[in-house]
Amino acid sequence: MSTAPSKRIAILTSGGDCAGLNAVIRAVVLHASRLNWEVFGIEDGTHGLLERPIRARKLTVQDVDSNMLRQGGTILGTTNKGNPFAYPMPDGSTKDMSETIIAGFRELGCEAMIGIGGDGSLAILRRLAEQGGFPLIGIPKTIDNDLGLTETSIGFDTAVSVATEALDRLQPTAASHDRIMILEVMGRDAGHIALASGIAGGADVILIPEIPYSLAKIAEHIKAIHQRGRSFALIVVSEAVKTSDGENKMVSFYGGQKRFGGVGQYIGAEIAELCQAETRVTVLGHVQRGGQPSAQDRLLASNFGVHAVELIREGKYDRMIAWSNRAVIDVPIAEAIAHYQQVDPDGALVQTARGLGVSFGD
Ligand code: F6P
Repeated sequence: MSTAPSKRIAILTSGGDCAGLNAVIRAVVLHASRLNWEVFGIEDGTHGLLERPIRARKLTVQDVDSNMLRQGGTILGTTNKGNPFAYPMPDGSTKDMSETIIAGFRELGCEAMIGIGGDGSLAILRRLAEQGGFPLIGIPKTIDNDLGLTETSIGFDTAVSVATEALDRLQPTAASHDRIMILEVMGRDAGHIALASGIAGGADVILIPEIPYSLAKIAEHIKAIHQRGRSFALIVVSEAVKTSDGENKMVSFYGGQKRFGGVGQYIGAEIAELCQAETRVTVLGHVQRGGQPSAQDRLLASNFGVHAVELIREGKYDRMIAWSNRAVIDVPIAEAIAHYQQVDPDGALVQTARGLGVSFGD
């Protein structure tokens, strides 16, 4: 005889996709099912609650086999556009659609929501939860690893592995052609991907937004490498590093959106001139976000998913799951999003890189 589900919860993914999101969904569904709870997956972030009929589907253990661990992206879909509090309308104006989303959530009949997102998404979800009076648990995901109060976020490790592999592949070409290879990586205003992959991939120069650089210093470092008898070099540059005029290089997209992009080309052209050497630029882009999650991201996702369900069981809300000191903990969402976690210019990883002779161009 089957018993009625004791709880019904919702889950959504929001913001840019990254590797490990499906592994979180799987963990939530598997653990919730063991408690005889129902899980509803909301499609395309909050957009699924904006439309009528609402777009959400029940997720059961049959929907989440172990293949989900290996799958990049998110089976629920996601969006990093359309803030519900200032939703873009066809005539160019914006409208507050928060009450429609809250009504959509009520229609779903769930007692709590698990929101997987970065700082922007978690801030929006928290505002909706406060206004709508529904319980929320946040799970941190971002390849940028810029959320506060957690040592790492889902997607970061995979992004670092991809960037490291790119350096592994660029190095032989650099060596064969006596070139300076420049790799531009993502990360927004935080240089975590550049720093970690730069160390792991043996970069000679790592440029991050947190440490101001000069082109002359980079050139000096590369010329010294040449003088020591090595004819090639690797540079990793984070997308939000500024030009010497203090400007960000941006790319415009349809609908007036702007994204970082192009600083690699800038550094490549300037360094070619200053070092009288051949440079080539690779922009890694969304390759860092898709594809198979690393083992570490799968582990983190599994830990976070199970713990999120446990928090709902305990009735502990408005918390974000976090990783700290080899353990899963939970912290106030408000505090996590209030603290934008950039690279500490005096931190251990920067010191390690300096100890290895890496230049930050400073
Ligand atoms: O925040 C994740 C991220 O991948 C950033 O590193 C990057 O600047 C941005 O998203 C790219 O956004 P989009 O997918 O909209 O191009």
